[in-house]
Amino acid sequence: MKAKARAHANIALIKYWGKEDEELSIPNNSSLSLTLEAFYTETEVEFSELISEDEFYLDNRKDDITLLKVSKFLDLFRDRLNIKTRAIVKSINYVPTAAGLASSASAFAALAAAANKASGLNLNDKALSTFARKGSGSATRSIYGGIVEWQKGDSDQTSYAIEIDDANWDIGMVVVLVNSNEKKISSTKAMKQTVLTSPYYPSWVKDSEKDLIDIKAAIKDRDIRKIGEISERNALKMHATMLAAKPPIMYFEPNSILVIQIVQQLREKGIAAYFTMDAGPNVKILCKLSDANTIKEDLLKSFDKKDIIVTKVGPKVQII
Ligand code: PMV
Repeated sequence: MKAKARAHANIALIKYWGKEDEELSIPNNSSLSLTLEAFYTETEVEFSELISEDEFYLDNRKDDITLLKVSKFLDLFRDRLNIKTRAIVKSINYVPTAAGLASSASAFAALAAAANKASGLNLNDKALSTFARKGSGSATRSIYGGIVEWQKGDSDQTSYAIEIDDANWDIGMVVVLVNSNEKKISSTKAMKQTVLTSPYYPSWVKDSEKDLIDIKAAIKDRDIRKIGEISERNALKMHATMLAAKPPIMYFEPNSILVIQIVQQLREKGIAAYFTMDAGPNVKILCKLSDANTIKEDLLKSFDKKDIIVTKVGPKVQII
């Protein structure tokens, strides 16, 4: 009745932004991501007849606020098994929480895998990704390593992720931590506001489906420049859509723009570097892994060493 799992964060190259079904967390568009080795969550779940309430500890501290979400998530397993047993959940995040680094992705993927094992439900990866989805949309993709596509589907069972490439080639990311504080507006709230008020939202959905087709062709060719161009523009389109919401949603900070300018200069020097940003000010640079240290050197002129993280592609969720 006890198991521990490790899941890695992922960064979307084709973003998911906006839900078709809030309750089931079914998105309006399919998305595609790269799983990262450097950022992950380890979570232990122990079901016990000796306790009458769930307990949740994040980074060794009791966290009664997140507990509500954790309990609701564990109910998915309890309902399926028709049990009432409560659980003690201990989670360690090796990701700056809620800073647009997809901590919720690794968190819910690890929780799903640990609960799956501890409860004995033994779902396969595909079904596990539908469970993770209900914790956090991007967690759907963190069940897998490499390059992952989340096919939007149109029901609980058909909205899941699959690995489309092991990414065992020269590809990586440089992550620049601009600000690791909690984000100002949660992705859930920001998405809703965008869907309801941005005049550009329908174009976002339409364009992202085309971006997905194009990026999959570029991935097949291992064409890092094409992959980078498509993902950079996809991120800008997502942010442009949010900027047009009412009230507007803006995750850029001055230092985010500084990183973007450095990336553009690197490209003028012939280095294949492309930026992407999520629901936070941090910037992730997609590049050849073999160029990552050159890119880091350049960033060191403006940023602290501890705020620049080079990472290769990460593996799928594991029981540890
Ligand atoms: O996983 P959520 O529901 O917090 O949404 C994440 C949304 C983005 O990170 C901005 C994009 C994505 O596809 O991961």
